Amino acid sequence: MNILVTGGAGFIGSNFILYFLKKHKEHTIINLDKLTYAGNLENLKSLKSSAYHFVKGDINNREIVEHIFREFNISHVINFAAESHVDRSILNPQIFLKTNILGTETLLSVAKSFWSNSKKNKFLQVSTDEVYGSLGKEGLFSEATPLSPHSPYSSSKASADLIVQAYHDTYGLPVNITRCSNNYGPYQFPEKLIPLMIHHALNHKKLPVYGDGRNVRDWLYVEDHCSAIETVLMNGTNGEVYNVGGNNEKENIEIVNIILKELNQITGDKKINKNLITYVKDRLGHDRRYAIDSSKIQKELGWKPKMTFSKGIVKTIKWYLKNQDWVNTVISGDYRNFYQKNYKK
Ligand code: NAD
Ligand code: DAU
Repeated sequence: MNILVTGGAGFIGSNFILYFLKKHKEHTIINLDKLTYAGNLENLKSLKSSAYHFVKGDINNREIVEHIFREFNISHVINFAAESHVDRSILNPQIFLKTNILGTETLLSVAKSFWSNSKKNKFLQVSTDEVYGSLGKEGLFSEATPLSPHSPYSSSKASADLIVQAYHDTYGLPVNITRCSNNYGPYQFPEKLIPLMIHHALNHKKLPVYGDGRNVRDWLYVEDHCSAIETVLMNGTNGEVYNVGGNNEKENIEIVNIILKELNQITGDKKINKNLITYVKDRLGHDRRYAIDSSKIQKELGWKPKMTFSKGIVKTIKWYLKNQDWVNTVISGDYRNFYQKNYKK
């Protein structure tokens, strides 16, 4: 396989490239990434494989995408590239529409123009459980749950899913869509709940909990997500959607308390305590609860998550403790200068 991975310098994309190339030496990955604030080549610096290539560029740039298809004879696409943070989408929706919807369509259109044998090809769209909207106290999202997104972010991801499905239904493009729950693990930009709380607690900064802190998310360790993507890439039935979840429903405040307890135990720092918790104004349109039914991918493709939350969160906390330089680099705004100095375009 010659796989075009978009957004491979981001959190999940970089974890996927490291995971996949360690396991599969016979395949080639071309990482196309615009290197927004969320994309960091530092994540991939341990990668020495000659089967890996990086191209800096925008998925909206048809010329670059065509060039990559031609140059590398692309057989598979995994589209991770996106604006991914809900709070940012509330402040500035337009870039979310441009990258998440129009960028996805550009990739689909180029794939359609290059691919003639659907048996050898696959376009895998990495989507999210947020496209289903919000749950009450009971129930789970299944693949049959109607799309009902609320934020500009989730609406843009739902739109992308529809256009991906349309390319399958109209042109027969071999596609899959995966919809997964909240990921956590190494290399997640510290604007998302878990790395933000770890970083703030370590620096004795306030821990901003939105609303009453009782919104629920279903946490999935990033490596389990990578293995789900690998499974769908290899064995997914064309045109199908697969939900991917961790079976780890937790209220946000519970997560914050777990992080405080673990950090306190590991560091012995008494200033890391519950006094840091600050309830702040709720997120606009804040979805109350997400929970995933992933029985389809489990039954049909034999995937299941391996990591328990109690082990995964300790692993994650230890990673952030060890990699505080990484955190400081990615939040410093100096990253771009670092890139210009250290990598060629
Ligand atoms: P991220 O924000 O960490 O990384 C996104 C990457 O995409 C960055 O490297 C960025 O530079 C790149 N990018 C952004 N715009 C681009 C463009 N126009 N052209 C090329 N590259 C561009 O995101 P993530 O958390 O790794 O999420 C990856 C994918 O998984 C996204 O599609 C997201 O919607 C989806 N997802 C994420 C989660 C989660 O919990 N993080 C859960 C479900 C689904
Ligand atoms: O469900 C999958 C989605 O998970 C992905 O599609 C998104 O790309 C990803 O960003 C994530 O979205 P969330 O909005 O669920 O994640 P976030 O980490 O931003 O917030 C998790 C919960 O924590 C949510 O209920 C809001 C709350 N929160 C978040 C932050 C950043 C806080 O209470 N305080 C905070 O400072």
